[in-house]
Amino acid sequence: MDKTTENLGVTPEELNDDLVQQKPILLFDIREKDIFVKSHIEGSVHAVCDAQAKEKIMPKIPKNTKIVLISEPEDFAKETASMMKSFGLDAHYLEGGFSAWTGKISLGQTGKIITPDKLAQKLDSVFLLDVRDNDEFTEFQIPGSVNIPLEKLFDTKTISNIPKDKEIVTICPHGNRAMIASFALSRAGLDSQTLAGGLVGWNQFLKDVTVVTEPIKITQIQKVGKGCLSHIVESNGDAVVIDPLYPFEKYIDISKQEGFQITAVFDTHLHADHVSAARDLAKTIGAKLYLSKYEEYDYDANFVEDSDEVAFGKTKLRVIHTPGHTPGSLSYVVDEKYVFTGDILFVESIGRPDLRDNAEEFTEDLHNTLHNKLLRLSDDTMVFPTHHGDVEPIDDAFYSTIQQAKKLPWLDIPKQVFIKKVVAITRPRPMNYRKIITVNKGELELMHSQIPDLEIGPNRCAIDTGNI
Ligand SMILES: [Fe+2]
Repeated sequence: MDKTTENLGVTPEELNDDLVQQKPILLFDIREKDIFVKSHIEGSVHAVCDAQAKEKIMPKIPKNTKIVLISEPEDFAKETASMMKSFGLDAHYLEGGFSAWTGKISLGQTGKIITPDKLAQKLDSVFLLDVRDNDEFTEFQIPGSVNIPLEKLFDTKTISNIPKDKEIVTICPHGNRAMIASFALSRAGLDSQTLAGGLVGWNQFLKDVTVVTEPIKITQIQKVGKGCLSHIVESNGDAVVIDPLYPFEKYIDISKQEGFQITAVFDTHLHADHVSAARDLAKTIGAKLYLSKYEEYDYDANFVEDSDEVAFGKTKLRVIHTPGHTPGSLSYVVDEKYVFTGDILFVESIGRPDLRDNAEEFTEDLHNTLHNKLLRLSDDTMVFPTHHGDVEPIDDAFYSTIQQAKKLPWLDIPKQVFIKKVVAITRPRPMNYRKIITVNKGELELMHSQIPDLEIGPNRCAIDTGNI
């Protein structure tokens, strides 16, 4: 026998004995996920043995924890156990592979999982346990979550500090580390659920809230994990979508359920924090795509400019050029009662002008846009932005009025002081913003499956007037 795999094999009988005696074993099934879901050894977890697992998971497993790997045939598990052994782990493999197992079998996913939509409904009542490393957690996190890195969950002292009176939800980027964390917790007698798809899945979850019902209907679509907002505005069976998000099927589902047709899709500006679904949505449903004439796009659309109007249903949408966040930012006034402000005017703040260079010039534009354009709309105009920050929703939705916007910080100070303050802001830019801009411009094509990873992280579009 090869020296590196000597004594690493575990017979099905030995494994069965260990499981019956409830010995603390990490039982990792490393076959394909869809095969695992159909049938796996009771008590095993599905694990992916890729470069990320080697870097992020393996070093966190205590050296004295017995690991048994299962594959079919046994070769991959044998090789992987040997590799893990070389990292100092107590790794083994099931002799004969999965087909040699005659003991208890389970179906479906391992352990308990909670989907993003279910979590969204009880976010305030659960204990959110983020098991990533401290530096990953510091970068961004679900508000209210607590960080205990995976390796610490194998320490009984740490586990004793976890509250027992709340449901525990384990969180990591894709759900792999969190699944192992739930496994570690269950060894200590704690029940938990793993957030399905991890933070990447959480970031893709879209929630819909109807805000206005008469005479036109406004539905706000929220990307809960990122704080992105988009809107469907419907009039007499004819609807427009402003700043659609991925996964764009949500808009199609809603239009079918409610029996209206989306005939036009708009973006307010060239987004830097998330991938715009405008082009894909318009193409899929055969709607017209409207984009700012003042931004640089690399594909064909109906380019609109200040004062243009687009009729739909029994109403119309009017375009205002509102530069300051980006030079080409547009706001859309619908029915002269509602304004969709993109990233220029938020509920709790104003837009940041420094996503690109020339912050000073952008800040002048921002000041002019706010004071001479948006704040001149009638006081009762409802304001719908494309993002929200740390602000309480009203009946689950994020919106305000021009009257409320006039009371925001920094809107009552002299122009030169405003410019000085805004230019001095050095908030970090959205993660991956350069690549996202390239995709949104149309210079880089992405597979849909690549979007969730690219979009991870917070939106960072607003000015944080409280921290200056
Ligand atoms: Fe933006």
